[in-house]
Amino acid sequence: MTVAPATPALPTTRPDGCPFDPPGNYATLRDTAPTSKVRCPAGMDAWLVTRYADVRAVLADRTMSSRGASSVHVNPNADLDQEISPGSIIQLDGAAHSRLRKKVIAEFTVRRVEALRGYVQELVESHLDAMLAKPGRADLVQDFGLPIPSLVICELLGVPYADRSRFQQHSTTLVSTDATREEGERAYDELSGYLAALFTEKQRNPEDDLFSRLISGGADDPLTMEELVVLGLSLLVAGHETTANMIALSTLVLLEHPGERDVVLAEPERAVEELLRYLSVVQFGVLRYATADVRVGSRAVRAGEWLVAALNSANRDGGVFPEPDELDFHREHPRTHVAFGFGAHQCIGQQLARVELQEALTRLFRRVPDLRLAVPREGLAYKHNTLVYGVRELPVAWG
Ligand code: HEM
Repeated sequence: MTVAPATPALPTTRPDGCPFDPPGNYATLRDTAPTSKVRCPAGMDAWLVTRYADVRAVLADRTMSSRGASSVHVNPNADLDQEISPGSIIQLDGAAHSRLRKKVIAEFTVRRVEALRGYVQELVESHLDAMLAKPGRADLVQDFGLPIPSLVICELLGVPYADRSRFQQHSTTLVSTDATREEGERAYDELSGYLAALFTEKQRNPEDDLFSRLISGGADDPLTMEELVVLGLSLLVAGHETTANMIALSTLVLLEHPGERDVVLAEPERAVEELLRYLSVVQFGVLRYATADVRVGSRAVRAGEWLVAALNSANRDGGVFPEPDELDFHREHPRTHVAFGFGAHQCIGQQLARVELQEALTRLFRRVPDLRLAVPREGLAYKHNTLVYGVRELPVAWG
């Protein structure tokens, strides 16, 4: 009797060595089994899609549903049959998704975000002032990487930053892959309760912010309180977890590549795109559910099957990015990466993230040219158990 080989596990562990390389054996998979079945920590099997072209094709395919949310497959406590909340922009498909996306997209256009650049610059400078007032040492995560995107998203949405202790912890729980189902539900309920109270207050006293405009806009098709709360929660969580991790991790990369800092200062747009590709912080890819039979590369995927589009593998596909494991600020097409996803759900906040990263990194290295790690690199701890990869603390020194 022959025993069928067990389905391999979704790669979630990074190899020893370079902390910036993606988990698992993606290079081999891209060559030998670019779309292959894996068992996910959430318990289901899924097709792991590793090549750039296939990842883009899956994400552009309108028959692929986002109902499983972006990364529920890596949470062993996930409830795959959970009902989708109205307002959950990242999980909705088709017309319901477009309706919500249209309500917020205008707030994130290049023009609108450029108008915020001056505010971001002031924030970066004031945080650098405060950091440099310390006696030669700081934690770049707590003192710089986290507060800047957090303050920006609070200002944009109209969430009092003074309330951050009430939402930052919950937000961290929501992106953790090992939070229990109860912890996840509690964080979700508490954050929703906080936002419901905030929206009620804004209904009475609207201000000049995105949340107030969401309440007052679209009189012929208003959002319900439930939709407002869930959409607000998605924006608040997505708006600071991702960018905060990118700022600190990019700083670490640049501390390790001091020769590249001149490019960052001279061409920040180009450098930030390469950092987004190289780091691909949405580390376990994005989940999709096939609602129709479809071919992915040479594989026949059946309706009812799950797929994981491995963004970090696509971004290291040597057929698209020569020497993919190298940080190279001179790539011909720096924006072709899929770090922000692709297709209908492509990141709404990407321009904002770009501006924050450009301003944070250039101003940091211009003002603190002698910035260095204050601990041995081997002692740093990384976020292996969160949907968004990052470094937990980044002790730095200067002077
Ligand atoms: C470096 C920072 C960021 C990265 C790497 C990132 C990455 C991503 C990715 C990969 C997706 C696609 C998810 C999918 O296809 O299922 C996404 C969607 C999204 N992102 Fe970002 N993001 C970043 C910053 C932001 C910011 C600053 C915001 C601000 C609000 C934001 C809001 C959103 C929202 C609302 C969606 C869902 C869009 C939709 O479903 O239509 N993100 N992001």
